[in-house]
Amino acid sequence: MKGVLLAGGTGSRLYPLTRITNKHLLPINDRPMISYGIEALVKAGISEIMVVTGGTHAGEFLRLLSNGDDHDVDLLCYAYQDRPGGIAEALGLTERFVGDDRVLVMLADNIFGKTIKPTVEAFMEQPKGARIVLSHVEEPSHLRHLGVPELRDGKVVGIVEKPENPPSSYCVTGAYCYDPTVYSVISNLVPSGRGELEITDVNNYYVEAEMMEYDVLGGFWGDAGESIDAYYEVNDHVRHHGANLS
Ligand code: DAU
Repeated sequence: MKGVLLAGGTGSRLYPLTRITNKHLLPINDRPMISYGIEALVKAGISEIMVVTGGTHAGEFLRLLSNGDDHDVDLLCYAYQDRPGGIAEALGLTERFVGDDRVLVMLADNIFGKTIKPTVEAFMEQPKGARIVLSHVEEPSHLRHLGVPELRDGKVVGIVEKPENPPSSYCVTGAYCYDPTVYSVISNLVPSGRGELEITDVNNYYVEAEMMEYDVLGGFWGDAGESIDAYYEVNDHVRHHGANLS
C-alpha cells in the first residue's frame, strides 16, 4: 500500500501566517506540521510516500524532508499542484506513483492522537472499495466546517460537505483508504460550486456503490488548518499528550 500526503492549498484560514510559509511547515509543538503526517503513515506500516504540495514554498519541503531517511521512509516522492484545485485534484496527481496498488491518503493539516494503523489493517481485509475515519464532534457550529456523514444501521448512507444542518455528530477526518479505482472516479468528477474537485464527491461515489466502510476514531483528532484557534488547540494537545500514539 502506498501513502499520499496532501500539503497544497492556500492556507487562507491561517493568514497572515501562511503569507510567509506553507501551512504544513508551521510548527506543531517541536516540529513542522507535515512531519506528523509522515509519522502517521509510517506508523501505519507505509514506507513509500508521495507528498503533494504547491505554491511558492514547495522547495522548503525538499530541504526539510529530503529523501525521507530521517523519517524511516524507503521512497519519498514529490508532486507539484499548479493551483489549489481541490483535495481530489491533488490526489489525482499521484496516479502513476500509486499504480495498481491501494493508497492511504492523509491531509497534512490533520493531527491524530492515536495511530490509524487499525484502519489500514481493516482496509487490507476489505476485498475492494474505500474506508474512512470518523471522529465524534459535539458542536454543530464546528461540524458546519467539515464533511459530515449520515449514518443508518451502521452504514454511511451519504456525506455532506460543510452542511448547514449536520446529519450526525461525526465528521469525516482527513485519512482515507482507497483501492486503485479511485483514479477513474477522480477523472469523472466535475468541479464543485467553489471550483474544486471535492474529496466528498469521491467518497460519495463509494457510498453509492456500497463499497464504503468506516471506523470511529478513539482519542484526539484536530484539523490544525481550520482556524487560528484550532491551530493552537492542536498545538496544546500535542504538547501535552503527543500524537500518533500506539
Ligand atoms: O479536516 C477534515 C476535513 O478536510 C474534512 O472533514 C472535509 O470533508 C474535507 O473537505 C477537508 O475540508 P477542509 O475545508 O479542511 O479542506 P482544506 O481546503 O483545508 O484542505 C485540506 C488539506 O488538503 C490541506 O491541508 C491541504 C490539502 N489541499 C487542499 C486543497 C484545496 C491540497 O493539497 N490541494 C488543494 O487544492
